[in-house]
Formats: sequence, C-alpha cells, structure tokens
Amino acid sequence: MTGDLSPIDKAKFVAARRAADIVQDGMRVGLGTGSTAAWMVRRLGDRVQQEGLRIKAVPTSTRTAQLARELGIEVVSLDQAGWLDLTIDGADEFDGDLNLIKGGGGAHLQEKIVATASDQMIVIADAGKEVETLGAFPLPVEVIPFGWQTTRTLIQEALDTMDVLGTSAALRMNGEAPFVTDEGNHILDLHLQRIGNARQLALVLNQVPGVVENGLFIDICDKVVIGHGDGRVELR
Ligand code: 5RP
Repeated sequence: MTGDLSPIDKAKFVAARRAADIVQDGMRVGLGTGSTAAWMVRRLGDRVQQEGLRIKAVPTSTRTAQLARELGIEVVSLDQAGWLDLTIDGADEFDGDLNLIKGGGGAHLQEKIVATASDQMIVIADAGKEVETLGAFPLPVEVIPFGWQTTRTLIQEALDTMDVLGTSAALRMNGEAPFVTDEGNHILDLHLQRIGNARQLALVLNQVPGVVENGLFIDICDKVVIGHGDGRVELR
C-alpha cells in the first residue's frame, strides 16, 4: 500500500504508524490535525477494529473528530476526559530542543490546549520538518475577527522589538474569504524567516489584545518520531 506514496507521504506514514503503535489499551489520547496526524488516526482506527483497542480520543479539530468517528474510535470532549495520557500530533517545524511551529492547518489553538493537558506529547513528522532555527515556515497567530487589522498593526509593532528577520503578517484566506478557525477566528501568518528567541516571541505575541494563541510550542513536545522517505524511523 505504501508503494504508491510519494517519499514525503511515506515518511509521514511510517512516523504516524510508529507513534500510533505506542498507544495502549485504556489510554486517553489527544489526536492532532493535518495529513500526518490523519495517518495516525487511521492506524488507531485499524487497531480499534482489528485488536479491539479501547481508547478515549480527544480530537483537536472538527476534521479530525469526523475522521475518528468514521473509523469507530470513541470520541470524547477534553472536559469529559479531564486529562490525557498522550497526544500525538504533526508539526510544521521542529528544532533541536523539540520546540515547534504548528498551525499550518489552522488548528493550533485546540492543539496547544490538548497537548498541554497531556502527560506526554509526541510529534510525528517527516525529516524535512527539522530546522536549526524556527521561522522559515510562516508562524500562524489566531486572532479574533473584531479589529483584526488593529491587532495586526500591534503585532507588527511588537515584532519590531524582536530578534526576527521579517515582519509581514498576511491574513490567511480561504478562496475569496478570510479563513475561519473552528473557534470562529482568523489567522495571521507571520513571515519572520528566522526567530532568534522563540520563547520570548511566544510570550510577547500572546500579550497583544486580540491575539488568541500563537503557533509556537515551547517546552510542550516530549518526543519526535521522524519518518524518512525510505521507510526508516528515528526517535528523538
Ligand atoms: C495543524 C498542524 C499540523 O500538525 C501541521 O500543519 C502539519 O501538517 P501536516 O502533517 O499536514 O504536514 O499544526 O494545525
């Protein structure tokens, strides 16, 4: 089956499969969002059907919730679960300290809440997501629709004081209309090129009125499962 996949998709597939096989019977599991996470959810669905694996899953988006339900995985809310044993999710970038940029799929708000409410967060990624310094991937920032242009100006003023190489902030679009998140908000994608102090930037961004959450995950990820196009898997 993996013979038909491109090297990147194969890398995502093998990483997702390895992480899904870590899940044990009875666990409460956070399910990430994106193409890599979808492979992981499919593998968990297979395990539920074939091995009778029993888990309670908390999805991080309506997309993931729908997929999990279709595959027969029991879906509960985060409040019903209370606390999670494990969250498995993708990432757009990860560095040597396992800090991340997430939100390429626009779900980083729920993803950050769910990962933070977990004993362990495992990231699944193809090897191309590893970077020395975060920032080549545009950093998503979720903002409320009210006054979003003012929020953007305030963010750009804040960026002027930070160790970054760019300050452009583009409203994410979905065709002709602004992209709308599961929480009814918009996303500004910050083109920073290089983030010199990600920890500080994450704090500064969340202090701007109108910002709901940024896509920097600092000290949240515990382990990365890295897939390669030739089928190899590495754990960090
Ligand atoms: C969604 C995310 C995704 O995990 C991230 O965008 C990676 O996606 P993919 O696995 O499709 O490359 O953060 O908000």
